[in-house]
Amino acid sequence: MVKLHGDKNAKPEAADARKPSFDNLARLVDADMARVNQHILDHMQSPVALIPQLAGHLIAAGGKRLRPMMVCAAAQLCGYTGSRHVGLAACVEFIHTATLLHDDVVDESDLRRGQESANALWGNQASVLVGDFLFSRAFQLMTADGQLKVLKILSDASAVIAEGEVLQLMTANAPDTSEEDYLRVIRSKTAALFAAASQIGAVVADRPHKEEEALHSYGMNLGVAFQLVDDVLDYSADQAALGKTIGDDFREGKVTLPVVLAWRRGTEEEREFWRRTVERSEQEGGDLERAMEIMARHTTLTDTLERARHYGAIARDSLGIFPDGEVKSAMLEAVDFVIDRAY
Ligand code: IPE
Ligand code: IPE
Ligand code: MG
Ligand code: MG
Repeated sequence: MVKLHGDKNAKPEAADARKPSFDNLARLVDADMARVNQHILDHMQSPVALIPQLAGHLIAAGGKRLRPMMVCAAAQLCGYTGSRHVGLAACVEFIHTATLLHDDVVDESDLRRGQESANALWGNQASVLVGDFLFSRAFQLMTADGQLKVLKILSDASAVIAEGEVLQLMTANAPDTSEEDYLRVIRSKTAALFAAASQIGAVVADRPHKEEEALHSYGMNLGVAFQLVDDVLDYSADQAALGKTIGDDFREGKVTLPVVLAWRRGTEEEREFWRRTVERSEQEGGDLERAMEIMARHTTLTDTLERARHYGAIARDSLGIFPDGEVKSAMLEAVDFVIDRAY
């Protein structure tokens, strides 16, 4: 359960005995994921030693592997019995890993998956270039699959992610960003890859268009919920559990929904605070704490989580057209996990 500063509605931990977890889904895709992880290790190799060294540092640190699990789970949900999902799940994780390398350079983050980030260890230039390599590897994996439709879904998603990151750069330091513009950014930079990952399960299984669409919608709405929660965790998580530095978004002047809402609901004095700290990047000791106080006063973290629950509900309902079963239940529980997670 995410702990919120000043959250009067927070459930006490004791009432939280049956936490939603990702374990059921992880168990169902366990054999698939062993193959996916092997595929990832095999394909990050290169005769240029720095590439496997740097990529291996990030990949060995783990991460939740949510996106490749989505490919495998969706394929299972669609009754797929072949092997194409393995290479495509690896491809999706390569795209994700490439965006993380680039994102940590842009965000100047020095902690990732509980370890020093690649840019902190090897510098920005190496991180950007190895990120480019991983993107290119992902395209090789798409072409190895060979179906033009899969290539289109994943290459479109890659372009949309890059657009999202650029759009985000354009809304940086602008506390008066609209909720709509914020949503556009997170749909692009995060949700598009979740959507593509889930949709691919139906495509490899050659299922009818409406099942593809349903899985796309599941991934898209799950992805929006996922990023909303990530943006709450940036202010409220236990840093050790999250494996990333708390307060990064505020320090960088990244305008996420908790700040968008605080600006909209703020007094003139509070807006002057956001102008100084976020717009002009003139920050001093105690500013992060002040930002959290203002957000607590306007309940912007709890309200951001409320929005995440809304998108989570859409994701769950998207699966309504599939027959009940173990995989579907695990995918439904994954939505709750994404909203309730601490890491
Ligand atoms: C981090 O994604 C990037 C965001 C979209 C917030 P994850 O939280 O899935 O990262 P890993 O792969 O588990 O480290
Ligand atoms: C996610 O945004 C960026 C990507 C999609 C790569 P964030 O910048 O919030 O992700 P974290 O918090 O650094 O993982
Ligand atoms: Mg970041
Ligand atoms: Mg973040």
